[in-house]
Parts: sequence; C-alpha cells; structure tokens
Amino acid sequence: MALENKLGITDSAELAREEEMRSKKKAIWLFEEGILDTLDAGSLATLKEIHKILFGEIYEFAGEIRKVNLAKGNFRFAPLMYLEAALANIEKMPQSDYDEIIEKYVEMNIAHPFREGNGRSMRIWLDHMLKKEIGKVVDWRLVDKEDYLLAMERSPVKDVEIKVLLKEALTDEVDSREVYMKGIDHSYYYEGYTTYKTNEL
Ligand SMILES: Nc1ncnc2c1ncn2[C@@H]1O[C@H](COP(=O)(O)OP(=O)(O)OP(=O)(O)O)[C@@H](O)[C@H]1O
Ligand SMILES: [Mg+2]
Repeated sequence: MALENKLGITDSAELAREEEMRSKKKAIWLFEEGILDTLDAGSLATLKEIHKILFGEIYEFAGEIRKVNLAKGNFRFAPLMYLEAALANIEKMPQSDYDEIIEKYVEMNIAHPFREGNGRSMRIWLDHMLKKEIGKVVDWRLVDKEDYLLAMERSPVKDVEIKVLLKEALTDEVDSREVYMKGIDHSYYYEGYTTYKTNEL
C-alpha cells in the first residue's frame, strides 16, 4: 500500500513516479527563483521549508516533523520521545568548516525528521550549508549511489567514510543546475517503495 497522500494514489509505484516528477519540478523552482538564497543555512526551519516546498503538493505532512518512529535496515532513527530535543541541539551544532558541516548532516540524518523524503530534502539542505559556509557544493554526479548509501548506513557509528566520499566530490560549481539536481535524482538514490518500518502512534 502506498503512503497516504493528497493525490489519492493507492499504488506505491505510481506514487513513487508522481512524487519524483512533482518534487523535481519544485526543486527546480526552488533553485531558479533563488528561494534558497533567502534562507538561513543549517537551520531546522530551512530544512522544513525545503521539505514543504518539495512535497507540499503530495503529502499533508510536508514540512512537518514525523509522528511515527522510523527504522531502515537495522537502524532505528531518533525515537519520537527524543526527536524534538535532538532537533533543537542539532540546529545549534557548528558549521564553520567541511567536517563540522558533515557532522551536522550525519546527526540530522539520525534524527530523520520527516515521515518520507528525508534524503532529498537533506541533500539540498547540506549543499545549501556547504555553499554558504565554504563556497562549495557536492557534485552528486561523482558520488556512487551504493557507496553513498553504505557510507550513510555506517555514519551513525563512524562518519569517516561519508566525509571522504563527499569531499572527493566537492566542486566550485555552486550555481550549476545539473550539479544541484543530481542530488535529488530519486531514481538514482531510490531504495525501494517500502523500506521504512514504522510503528504508528
Ligand atoms: N540504514 C540507514 N541508516 C542510516 N541512514 C540511512 C539508512 N538507510 C538510508 N539512510 C539515509 O536515509 C535517506 C533516505 O531517506 P528517505 O527515504 O526519507 O528520503 P528520500 O528522499 O525518499 O530517499 P533518497 O535519499 O533515497 O532519495 C538516504 O538517502 C540515506 O541518507
Ligand atoms: Mg524514501
């Protein structure tokens, strides 16, 4: 069964297609209109805004913190009980150099604030921070999908792999639409329709 959505779609493959198409259009709009330039780098409000813009047409929960516990693979993301406090602390983490920014990104991934669409909204949030703080972004065309996922799965235990992987892909091309869009290419990062285990409250 597909995740409940505003489009009334019940087939998960169809929802995945619609979600990809619509969120990509919104991502282009976000980029072209310079909306990101008006947002604070590294804040929770910015991440929520990105998520709301990308998925607002599709999900009621767009831009809102999840109300269920989530797990993927063997990893359980921040329990609801601690989520709000975790987010407040993560927001305060420093972001003045590359390592600090990745550490913040890793913690935000552990928090996993949204019911769905965390990866895509967080990669935009990460690039936004990198661009504003160190004048670089990740060229996602150079990041192998499997390597990325393995490094992210590993990151709650040790963040060296994700640090090395993304550092090798840093570019000065901060205004390239192709570089930016590849980061949210869902068909590239996509892991399957029903990867989350949840317990609804
Ligand atoms: N086992 C895991 N442990 C830690 N982080 C994980 C794990 N599996 C996936 N992730 C992270 O979660 C992201 C996926 O989250 P989610 O499905 O909410 O976002 P998405 O935008 O729909 O997907 P995607 O990132 O695949 O485009 C991945 O990009 C990765 O960074
Ligand atoms: Mg997903």
